[in-house]
Amino acid sequence: MPVDVTTSYAPLLRRIHWATAVLFIAAMLIGLYCGLQPPGTSPRRELLEVHKSLGMTVFFLSILRLMVRVSTRVPPEPSSFAWLVRAAARLNHVALYLILFAMPLTGYAFSSAGGYSLRYFWTFSWPRVVADNPAVAHAGEVTHDALAWFVYAVVALHIAATIWHAVVMRDGVLARMWPRSESGER
Ligand code: HEM
Ligand code: HEM
Repeated sequence: MPVDVTTSYAPLLRRIHWATAVLFIAAMLIGLYCGLQPPGTSPRRELLEVHKSLGMTVFFLSILRLMVRVSTRVPPEPSSFAWLVRAAARLNHVALYLILFAMPLTGYAFSSAGGYSLRYFWTFSWPRVVADNPAVAHAGEVTHDALAWFVYAVVALHIAATIWHAVVMRDGVLARMWPRSESGER
């Protein structure tokens, strides 16, 4: 049966959302762990390779996602949404989209400028988009690390809001993004 487009996001957008959620949270937790380990030690070195590869995957998925997002219909918010809830949800989504691009781009830029490894899952290396430059590398790293705090807050708020809608409000917000909608579509 076709998906009910009046209550759900487009099927491809929902698939990309969940794939990105898993990859993004994995990259975030690995980054958090690596940030607490002394530089040059193992397993920080190896895990950072995985971190960067997950981050680059998120970046390319986010480009595809943005294209799907602007070319498909977004379902209207449930009528239970007061204007304040609606504004908060939109602000949270805008912040999430900014993060989806800002984290990979700052990470890529500072790794390029710092001459660090840019291997993608032990295969090829991404081109260095920024020439060796310690000042740029430092500024990019400071930005990436500072943004990490914003990331923790925005993602935690997003997950807490979803739980609140699912458990307290029971207004079908989770179903709007769920891979299998009530209409039986996969
Ligand atoms: C989904 C995208 C990404 C997220 C959510 C993310 C998140 C994080 C977090 C939370 C940290 C720990 C910050 C700290 O407390 O020190 C971190 C560190 C780091 N990230 Fe990312 N990152 C992403 C993408 C990338 C990319 C694409 C690269 C490089 C190509 C990269 C390179 C690094 C490096 C080298 C560190 C260690 C920096 C340090 O210890 O100061 N990240 N990242
Ligand atoms: C367990 C983790 C997560 C859950 C349960 C979850 C749940 C949801 C739900 C239910 C919606 C629909 C909200 C609505 O219709 O108003 C949504 C939308 C959204 N989520 Fe998540 N999410 C999770 C993780 C993430 C992560 C890690 C990101 C990105 C960093 C993210 C980015 C977004 C964005 C940008 C939207 C708006 C829809 C769009 O325009 O693509 N989510 N999420």
